[in-house]
Amino acid sequence: MNALLADPLEGGALVSDGALLRNEAGVWPVLGGVPVLVPDPARWLRGAREHVLASLGEVGRLGADDVALLGEFCAAVRGVGDAAIDDDFLADEEGAVDVVAGPAERLVTELLARRTDVVERLVAALGSGPVLEIGCGAGTATRRIGARPLVVVDRSVRALLRATAGTDATPVVGLAEALPVASEAFGTVVAANVIDLLDDPGAFVAEVARVLRPGGRLVLCTPDPALGAVGGTDEALVDLLEDEGLTVVQDVDGLPWVRSHGPRHHQLYVVRLVVAER
Ligand SMILES: C[S@@+](CC[C@H](N)C(=O)[O-])C[C@H]1O[C@@H](n2cnc3c(N)ncnc32)[C@H](O)[C@@H]1O
Repeated sequence: MNALLADPLEGGALVSDGALLRNEAGVWPVLGGVPVLVPDPARWLRGAREHVLASLGEVGRLGADDVALLGEFCAAVRGVGDAAIDDDFLADEEGAVDVVAGPAERLVTELLARRTDVVERLVAALGSGPVLEIGCGAGTATRRIGARPLVVVDRSVRALLRATAGTDATPVVGLAEALPVASEAFGTVVAANVIDLLDDPGAFVAEVARVLRPGGRLVLCTPDPALGAVGGTDEALVDLLEDEGLTVVQDVDGLPWVRSHGPRHHQLYVVRLVVAER
């Protein structure tokens, strides 16, 4: 068991017990080799059952034992329907893209040439290990992170399996607002384009402050530094970090983040990258 992992309720140490991780706060399953460390694993798995089965099956990591264990966790749960866990990443985020010839060609080509700018700046700002990445998506940042050990947390099993494939990173199913890792254990936390998706960004930042070592750094970027607040300002992000006792040491706005869906469909976000230290 990776000593950096902890229960998502109280942050307590876990012990391995076959395909389970447990302590006095609860019991969590390991499915297809991936710990599922969400606060209420039975309810979460009931909702995400199809997603978990499909994601593990697609990469040949679904065994009969996993199906049985998933069934045991879900068996007593009532009143929970299937929950959609979107694939919030593209099939290919870095490969060549055809550009339609015409007046837009030069503009689109220039933007596509800067597709990895944000992630490269993000990675250049990382501190020391251990590193915790939250919300890995397809793994564009994951594969560039050199410091070790590396723990990757996402609510999507499919994203985790894809981002960590062929690496020595530890994938963990978990929620950004209840991080399943030990307190004061990480030199760096990195979260690209995730905080704006959360219902409770404050809970996430409080968790980041908990898991960072003194002097550790958070590196994040977001296309919505107002964090979805109606009538809010772009200072909401920095205010939130400072409220949790973090000190902003880098703040760069106006970076292009491009998601290319095909020759005629390119999505441009303009993101703010912030580095804060505990
Ligand atoms: C927009 S994608 C960003 C992916 C990648 N970091 C990038 O910048 O390309 C957001 C990622 O965060 C994950 N995510 C969203 N909400 C989450 C939550 N509450 N807890 C953990 N992961 C979450 C999604 O599954 C997805 O992988």
